[in-house]
Amino acid sequence: MVIEPKVRGFICTTAHPAGCAQNVKNQIAFVKGKGNFQGPKKVLVLGASTGYGLSSRIAAAFGAGAATIGVGFEKPASGSRTASAGWYNTAAFEQEAAKEGLYAKTLIGDAFSQEMKDKVIDLIRKDLGKVDFVVYSIAAPRRTAPDGNTYSSVLKPIGKAYTDKTIDLKTRSVVPITAQPASEQEIHDTIKVMGGEDWMLWMDALARAEVLEENVKTVAYSYIGPEVTYPLYRSGSIGMAKEDLEATAKRITRQLSGVRGSAFVSVNKALVTQSSAAIPVVPLYITLLFKLMKERGIHEDCIAQMDRLFREKLFVDSPVLDEEGRLRVDDWELRAEVQDEIKKRWPIVCTENLEELADLQGYWKDFYNLFGFEVDGVDYAEDLSPDISIPSV
Ligand SMILES: NC(=O)c1ccc[n+]([C@@H]2O[C@H](COP(=O)([O-])OP(=O)(O)OC[C@H]3O[C@@H](n4cnc5c(N)ncnc54)[C@H](O)[C@@H]3O)[C@@H](O)[C@H]2O)c1
Repeated sequence: MVIEPKVRGFICTTAHPAGCAQNVKNQIAFVKGKGNFQGPKKVLVLGASTGYGLSSRIAAAFGAGAATIGVGFEKPASGSRTASAGWYNTAAFEQEAAKEGLYAKTLIGDAFSQEMKDKVIDLIRKDLGKVDFVVYSIAAPRRTAPDGNTYSSVLKPIGKAYTDKTIDLKTRSVVPITAQPASEQEIHDTIKVMGGEDWMLWMDALARAEVLEENVKTVAYSYIGPEVTYPLYRSGSIGMAKEDLEATAKRITRQLSGVRGSAFVSVNKALVTQSSAAIPVVPLYITLLFKLMKERGIHEDCIAQMDRLFREKLFVDSPVLDEEGRLRVDDWELRAEVQDEIKKRWPIVCTENLEELADLQGYWKDFYNLFGFEVDGVDYAEDLSPDISIPSV
């Protein structure tokens, strides 16, 4: 069938297999273009199918020659319904890895469950023995925790309602937005989903199973961003979860002392991913940011971020950390020359000057690209089967 995008709000309900495959190939070409680096050799990536997790997997495999086990929550095609983008990305990654003789297996299912932890441990034992690097890049709207309860995360301010502006992606206009404050329960639940608890459970389970190498490293991803997004992001419910995640890194490092392991949090740049598209206010900020960073030649996408993180910040003799102990690849985003201009543009940006002040086109291209559409070099008139398989483990 000919596959076309069907956008509903901030997601696209179809995905294009050839476009997703081309995206993966482009990311691989980027990493290969930078040459090899001394990095991890046996890697577990939790949240490996899209966004920062997929790019982490590609950077480790094609930059450092790592064997990778990935975990993602994705759907295969069914009838005339396409698979999810992460499904196609994973199929393409495995194919490209196989061409280079790189070990790559992926488990599709719920990373929050004990069952998945057990399956991954079995697979590590069977195929790799131990792992020397664990990436935690899960972004999820809900989690069923070991207590049997299902918690949902919210993107809300704390304390009082917050009014600002955002992009209405459908009408491509700047519109006012008011977000009501999160309740104590909602804050608690958001921390349950996006905080550090599940990362800790993973590292505990892997340590107890003795499948972690000496000097193992683990990293999870956080975001801080500019003051304009603080009320909804860093000082909001999701920010509380990120603070919890950052504190968890220190606890994990202590807990891994037996194998001299270290846990890191990397603060990454704001990028268009399936998760960030869902956050109010942030997409408008991203369009302003991209324009400024592109003009200055310092714009990076997911793969450029993860490649720089691994090559220059994490797999080096002495990783450079900020005063809170975090790795920073949001350093270019937060440069004064960029943020001073954001502060000037934020109060004046409106529907009429959006094209001039913001990179709306770039945002939409990135958005469609997430689902394999508008990718250069792909023949979208081609009649193809949506049914692509991922080898079962
Ligand atoms: N996108 C940004 O701008 C940005 C910036 C800084 C930090 N981050 C952080 O990076 C991390 C990854 O986010 P992203 O933007 O790449 O998101 P994403 O939506 O592209 O990726 C999320 C990944 O998690 C997986 N996943 C979700 N629920 C799962 C489950 N129950 N079991 C197994 N896998 C599951 C998905 O399959 C996917 O692989 C998050 O911690 C996010 O907060 C994102």
